[in-house]
This record gives sequence, structure tokens and C-alpha cells, in this order.
Amino acid sequence: MNISSSTAPYLRLGVNIDHVATIRNARGGTHPDPVRAAHLATEAGADGITAHLREDRRHISDDDIERLMSEITRPLNFEMAVTDEMLEIALRHRPHACCLVPERRQEVTTEGGLDVASISNHLPDFISRLKDAGMRVSLFIDPDERQIDASQRVRADIVELHTGPYCHAAIDGDQARIRAELEKLAETAKSAAGVGLEVHAGHGLTFDTVYAVATMPEVVELNIGHFLIGEAIFGGLHSTIGRMRGLMDKARAEANGQVSA
Ligand code: PXP
Repeated sequence: MNISSSTAPYLRLGVNIDHVATIRNARGGTHPDPVRAAHLATEAGADGITAHLREDRRHISDDDIERLMSEITRPLNFEMAVTDEMLEIALRHRPHACCLVPERRQEVTTEGGLDVASISNHLPDFISRLKDAGMRVSLFIDPDERQIDASQRVRADIVELHTGPYCHAAIDGDQARIRAELEKLAETAKSAAGVGLEVHAGHGLTFDTVYAVATMPEVVELNIGHFLIGEAIFGGLHSTIGRMRGLMDKARAEANGQVSA
């Protein structure tokens, strides 16, 4: 494991509550309530709450966003597609941050990063409208230098690096791919921070895969959802989030050269 000698700042945990809504919607009622999960996540140590309002509303609903905005005490990271409809909703609610993601109706989850390089003509205006209204703008991208350059050009505040390919390699137990994906994440995190972009990471992270990403000193926030909500079935939400928080803190302490238990 590479341990950087530079001081890594506190690593924030954003808890994505989409899949609490997935379970609720399976029966079409009101239980389990994602807003209640957001409160519990906050008590358990989440620094922020993430929710993705998808075009097809398959999990989070418009009403959830309204309630999250009025009830939660931590910043909301609003995940959204680059569409006029989502822009209007973001401008109406003004969450702390908007994370722009690619979206296709047929996909099971967000499958790849946003191709900022190919849509950069349209993005500067979209991003400035969000920033002018006081929101921070994050772009969910693959760990690829071209996407970092493009993200800087379109004046994003933040890039969120897609950790999905690394986590898939870990599920397959393919050590060469794990090393290659971690290398890409570490290199692009450095380049992004070097050009002044704040660096976040997420997708597919688990107790087993979080450590390596959490030791990267430029990464200041992880957004984690599916694993936490799934694991909560067995361990409870509070204790599952607490354990993830503990692993992140341990990684950070070691990245800072501090001895941890
Ligand atoms: N970051 C982004 C941009 C995402 O789209 C998602 C999935 O909604 C996540 C992080 C969290 O991924 P997971 O649910 O696999 O932890």
C-alpha cells in the first residue's frame, strides 16, 4: 500500500440514500422513509447526504428532495442529469452541491462517468447557472486525464472520480486490474487537485475497497450508497455507517503517518 507523506485533510462521508427509496417504491407506500434514513445517517457520522433524482423517478421522488431540503441538517449533494428539467429543479431548491452525472433510462445504475470532453460546449453555461445561484458543481467522471482537463475548462468546482471499475476488479479478485485502477485513481486525483479542482470519489465502495481510496490524500469526500444500505439489513444503518467512518478515519490516520489501532 502506498502511504503518502503529504498531510491528508479530513475525509468527508456522503451517504447516498437512493436505495432506501428503492425499497419503499417496491411497495409504493411511504416505508422505509429516505428522509428518516438521512437523519439516522447524520447521527451515525455522515457529513453529507446524497440523493439522485433520476429522470424516471425510480427511487428518489420530487417530494423526497423537497423534504430533504427542508429537514436535513447536513449539506445535500443533489445528483442530476444535464437536462433542462433538472436544472430548473436545482435552481428551485438550491442544494449545497449538484453532482452532474450521465443518465440513460435503461441502465441499472450510473454506469460510466460524464464525458465532459465531448459535451463541453453545452456545459459551461449549465454550470455557470448553478454556480451563479450559489451551488457548488461537481462532475462525476472516469479517472482519465482528458476528463480532468475538460472539467477544469468548463469551470467545475469538483470532480468525483468513478471508483466502479476498481470495485469491479476487486469483486473479480483481479490483482493486476485492481493495481491498474488504483493507479489511475491516484494519478488523476493528483492532477485534479493540481489544477485546483476539489476531489471526491465514489461508486461501488465497500468495507473491503474503501481503504485504498481513503488513503489518497487529495480525495476529500467519498459518496457511498448501495453497500451501506444493503449491509444495514444485517448490521443496522447506524453501526454500518459507523464502521465505514472508522475505516475511513483509520486510512486517513495512516496516510498522515499517524499510528492507528
Ligand atoms: N457517486 C455517484 C456520482 C453515483 O451516481 C453513485 C450511485 O448513485 C454513487 C456515488 C454511490 O455509488 P454506490 O451506491 O455504488 O455506493
